[in-house]
Amino acid sequence: MFNKLCIIGVGLIGGSIARTARLQHLATTIVGFGLEADLQNLQTARQIGVIDAFYLDIAFAVQDADCIVIATPVASIAAVLALLKPFWSECAIYTDVGSTKGNVLAAALAEFGRVPDNFVPAHPIAGGEQSGVLAAVDDLFVRKRLIITPVDNTSTEALRKIQRFWQGLGSAVSIMDAEHHDSILAATSHLPHVLAFALVDMLGHKDEQSEIFKYAAGGFKDFTRIASSNPTMWKDICAANKQAILPLIGQLKDELDKIHRMLADDDYQQLFATFTYANHARQRFLNQIETTMSNSQTFHIQPGGKLHGVTRVPGDKSMSHRSIMLGSLAEGVTHVTGFLEAEDALATLQAFRDMGVEIEGPVDGRVTIHGVGKHGLKAPKNELYLGNSGTSMRLLSGLLAGQPFNSVLTGDKSLSGRPMKRVTDPLSLMGAEIKTTEQGTAPLYITGKAGLLKGIDYTMPMASAQVKSCLLLAGMYAQGETRVTEPAPTRDHTERMLSGFSYPVKRVGSTAVISAEGSLKAMDIDVPSDISSAAFFLVGASIAPGSDVILKHVGINPTRTGVIDILRLMGANIEVLEPREVGGEPVADLHVVYSPLKGIDIPEALVPLAIDEFPVLFVAAACAEGQTRLSGAEELRVKESDRIQVMADGLQILGVDAQPTPDGMVIQGGKIGGGVVTSHGDHRIAMAFSIAGLRAEAPIRVLDCANVNTSFPEFKDLVKALGLALVCTEE
Ligand code: S3P
Repeated sequence: MFNKLCIIGVGLIGGSIARTARLQHLATTIVGFGLEADLQNLQTARQIGVIDAFYLDIAFAVQDADCIVIATPVASIAAVLALLKPFWSECAIYTDVGSTKGNVLAAALAEFGRVPDNFVPAHPIAGGEQSGVLAAVDDLFVRKRLIITPVDNTSTEALRKIQRFWQGLGSAVSIMDAEHHDSILAATSHLPHVLAFALVDMLGHKDEQSEIFKYAAGGFKDFTRIASSNPTMWKDICAANKQAILPLIGQLKDELDKIHRMLADDDYQQLFATFTYANHARQRFLNQIETTMSNSQTFHIQPGGKLHGVTRVPGDKSMSHRSIMLGSLAEGVTHVTGFLEAEDALATLQAFRDMGVEIEGPVDGRVTIHGVGKHGLKAPKNELYLGNSGTSMRLLSGLLAGQPFNSVLTGDKSLSGRPMKRVTDPLSLMGAEIKTTEQGTAPLYITGKAGLLKGIDYTMPMASAQVKSCLLLAGMYAQGETRVTEPAPTRDHTERMLSGFSYPVKRVGSTAVISAEGSLKAMDIDVPSDISSAAFFLVGASIAPGSDVILKHVGINPTRTGVIDILRLMGANIEVLEPREVGGEPVADLHVVYSPLKGIDIPEALVPLAIDEFPVLFVAAACAEGQTRLSGAEELRVKESDRIQVMADGLQILGVDAQPTPDGMVIQGGKIGGGVVTSHGDHRIAMAFSIAGLRAEAPIRVLDCANVNTSFPEFKDLVKALGLALVCTEE
């Protein structure tokens, strides 16, 4: 990226930038600059190869440099800018690493009259208590956040280059204004440092020599680690960001006063509520870090090829969720085989462990559940974190509404944006008490209403198996009958599995009926392969000439086979071999060979029966001759992503004429080109665009694919084994 990178201040941060830039080949030459007092550190930096050369004269240091990074403490920024000013070059890009940004901009303004266009202020949120080049490492910024705080006149080109530079060093880059940055950092970094210094100052003066430090263990050490940081640096940071820190110190004092009062008044209920809130908030924070910083994956697909062979895709997601839920509520031990070992189903499994259920496995798809009976769940100690899984959250909300304990359900960014009113509204008609955000989204705060729920007769406004299942599970704890009517048939795994567990559930036309009368008896469950995962191969083999694939042991419950019906209407050649029944669910092997497809108007009645398969069906439509039109599928807009918009955007990037409509899409079949598309973290979008590669004319790159792990972790391996040229890289 750069010919000569000049680092001003080769300490922990500057040295780590140099080390990582070298490792990642981001600069040809890396030089350092420092003052006389820093000579020894600079010599060490050169000796250990962190920099190629160093200078004590700024003129030589910056000569011909195309990137200059100011990595000195915040208090020195004005002096460094003054040093740089006489040699300021329009051909170079300047950036800094200061942990406060308002003062950096103020210093630039004072020195230059305006912030130079080619100065891009930045702050890597990374560091440590040690200082000096010997503390530098080459992974300090990997998967750490970095904030860039441009001003109005910052050059877009310079900003993009600095952004790419930091991404190259491993950081996740965000862009915001300096004031916003400073207020956030005051709360998340500066206040905790003030607090750690204050606590050790207070305890140290109180009793330095004896008891307190002698017996101080993990808690004290963890809490005060940051008080080992450089006092000069932190004095300077506090001074630079005083405006934002002072009000926060005031708020912290108020909070301590509040806790002081609770204790003095023996108000332990409030104290518990405060601690519980904090405990949950911290868990949310940790979950968020996990999702935003989790490795992002990119799929690179070479165009062409065909699919050939016999395979068995993993277990059905919907049934895997339900096997854990009902197995946990059963009396006795339930053995599950074919369980889907993917993040969504594992989130459900963990939730039931958190509610005191002993669950062994999964090992090779085998899970053993020691059921606790219908009334045996225990209050979870923390929030139940359900990751990406809408099914877990919606079904659990019904089940937990009637328990004798409270619970909180949280999820990742995608799940936290999905509509939950569709379950909380009818549940509240049953007497449930569930709080959502103002937007009707998670977290869900559920007050358990054991014995107080009443059955309702509810006609769903949308065809949703999740809503139906949620209400049936709540109905198992409600007085009287709960009746749920669906406007169109939706998957009926809950009803089938309840019957399998000997729990009475009736079907009257399009209405499912349940009551609290009954108990669940443990049973063994063989989960068939997921037709939603098989769908990628059904489409892949249908669009790629020469393909011939057999998919073993696929669940072909008639409420799930819309994808086969739609593909057959388009001219696909799919045979259903050896249909059989396994544990109350129909199963078969599916044989698919290439056949030219034609565009159709997809019958609306098939939409709920193929609801999860549309991303890949859109790819089939893009390869078909003529026009395919989907309508009546507005539900697709509230799945893991807005699947109508995201697929239309991606297909257009690949050169396909795909026009989104409010409730579907119109696609003119034709050629698929190459390009870079994003899955928006939606597993089925990532897999659908990968399959498009079979008919693409140029390579396709699909960004943000880690979420494939929520439903089909083996996808990459299986699809490669059958013939798709897919390579996955991790950033
Ligand atoms: C599911 C039902 C469907 C489906 C989801 C799984 C289930 O959602 O899209 O992937 O297991 O009940 P809706 O019921 O919201 O349509």
